[in-house]
Amino acid sequence: MCGIIGIAGHGAVTERLLDGLKRLEYRGYDSSGIAVLTKGQLERRRAEGKIKNLEVRIGNEPLDGQIGIAHTRWATHGVPNEINAHPHQSGRVAVVHNGIIENFLELRESLAGERTFETETDTEVVAHLMDIELAKGHSPRDAFATTLKQLKGAYAFGLIIDENPNEIYCARAGSPLALGIGDKEHYLGSDAMAMAQLTNKLIYLEEGDWAIIRPEDYEIFDENDTPVERETTIISGGPAMAEKGNFPHFMLKEIYEQPDTVTNTLTNYLDDLRQRPDMPAELDFKDFDRVIIIACGTAYYAGMVAKYWFEQVAELAVDIDVASEFRYRRPVLDKRSLFIAVSQSGETADTLAALRYCKDNGLKTAALVNVMTSTMAREADIALPIKAGPEIGVASTKAFTSQLTALAALSLAAAVARGKLSRAEDIRLTAELTSLPRKITDALELDGHIKGIASELAKASSAFYLGRGSQVPIALEGALKLKEISYIHAEGYAAGELKHGPIALIEDGTPVIILAPYDELFEKTISNLQEVASRGARITLITDSVGAEAAGQMAADMIVIPTSDPFIAPIMTTIAVQLLSYHAAVHLGTDVDQPRNLAKSVTVE
Ligand code: M6R
Repeated sequence: MCGIIGIAGHGAVTERLLDGLKRLEYRGYDSSGIAVLTKGQLERRRAEGKIKNLEVRIGNEPLDGQIGIAHTRWATHGVPNEINAHPHQSGRVAVVHNGIIENFLELRESLAGERTFETETDTEVVAHLMDIELAKGHSPRDAFATTLKQLKGAYAFGLIIDENPNEIYCARAGSPLALGIGDKEHYLGSDAMAMAQLTNKLIYLEEGDWAIIRPEDYEIFDENDTPVERETTIISGGPAMAEKGNFPHFMLKEIYEQPDTVTNTLTNYLDDLRQRPDMPAELDFKDFDRVIIIACGTAYYAGMVAKYWFEQVAELAVDIDVASEFRYRRPVLDKRSLFIAVSQSGETADTLAALRYCKDNGLKTAALVNVMTSTMAREADIALPIKAGPEIGVASTKAFTSQLTALAALSLAAAVARGKLSRAEDIRLTAELTSLPRKITDALELDGHIKGIASELAKASSAFYLGRGSQVPIALEGALKLKEISYIHAEGYAAGELKHGPIALIEDGTPVIILAPYDELFEKTISNLQEVASRGARITLITDSVGAEAAGQMAADMIVIPTSDPFIAPIMTTIAVQLLSYHAAVHLGTDVDQPRNLAKSVTVE
């Protein structure tokens, strides 16, 4: 949510800041801006909308310097326009901010007689507070430390000062921020991606840390203003990983990467030689009577599928909740529970808060994440990677199938550890998992066929996704994917639940996508299909060849996915719903990779 990049260097910074912003655009894209120190003089440019608008603005009114900060915004306080775009300036100070200053109204009130506020943002007050401290004659260092002490909330800042030509000030509390080490240059960024073109040597600031970066050196202080040393991390993987290649959108590229990304996940969790789940030594499922899975959005649906797996295969009870609810409902916690946070980014504010809550209450915590340098990975007792590689499309695709694959492997490990699975069943289900990359490759062959079905779906104003058992979360995920990128209203439901109310919404031509691979629940789902078909729904049935044969002519359209064991079927039907939503969105001409109002990483509550 919002992206920050800063450079304290020797060469010109504007082009490099713009490049960093483009890498961060996935975090928000309502507006953007840059502030630099040119011979010690502060100048800034801002623009509403995407980074390309800022490029045009800078093309018309060039600016450059050797010290600069930049920001791409996802609006929290104040409409997304140029006035509210960062950097915010007051007097000598320009600031970029990620997060929310919770006491900003109180602070604004206290400055009302003294200062005029130009924006509706919570951030502007920080620039005023700092400028006031400087005007009192305090050094930038003392002024910054005093300013930070007045703020409540979650934030990451970058800040530069007019006539202070050599320094960027930055701070972290609640929102991630890293320093980058270059060759006689230093950087700051919301994440490694921001600095990928500049350096792979990072220092992650810890909670409450603040820092001063200069071209030649840097200093880090803790929340008590005591100088501290923090560990340097070398990031592997290069900037090229974030390119689109020949694909028109990152989302499609990421859908097509899934045979590889799922292979990477499997390689991490399955021991080829023993043909059984290979787990981190510190994770022994014999230690637990219950698993608590907490996540948001798509990651939450991965957790929902995992509940079926853990309970059915490992006979291990699972509680699952969305993070924003869990953290405030004062859940009853039992020390023999394993807490698992599922998060692509590892930075989602609510999921992180839930992890901290469980850790503080003495539970063993694990974070199943894609970004291993994330706060969750660093704070959890056990970091479990999904190895999907950078996911740029705001709509999560390959991270979801890798989360599912890792959770499936974890459930098998739990079943083995708890003695709930025979060796033969263990080998059989493990073999099913290892067949995933091949079957996903086959499912991707359906792309052209699905594109045709999607052009019909794109005409609808509303759609339903139905499933039973472990297909219910995929129905929810299919509906979410359609909503977020095509803006078509969609609902996912347990197929048996429709007749308890929502069936009233079915009318002639309402698209209903039914997820029904041939399994023990197939007949029941088909009964539900008939209930909606007889009320005029236009049915798309996602099934396998046996299901297709059994269903006959009941559906207007059929997507026949490769036949699989029910254990991996939710991962297979996912491919179909991803392609369906992707093509519907392309048909409607929406901004597939950066849909309106969304951001990839939700670091505010
Ligand atoms: O980074 P996380 O996995 O914690 O993110 C959670 C959700 O914000 C995310 O899955 C969101 O729902 C996606 N846009 C869905 O495509």
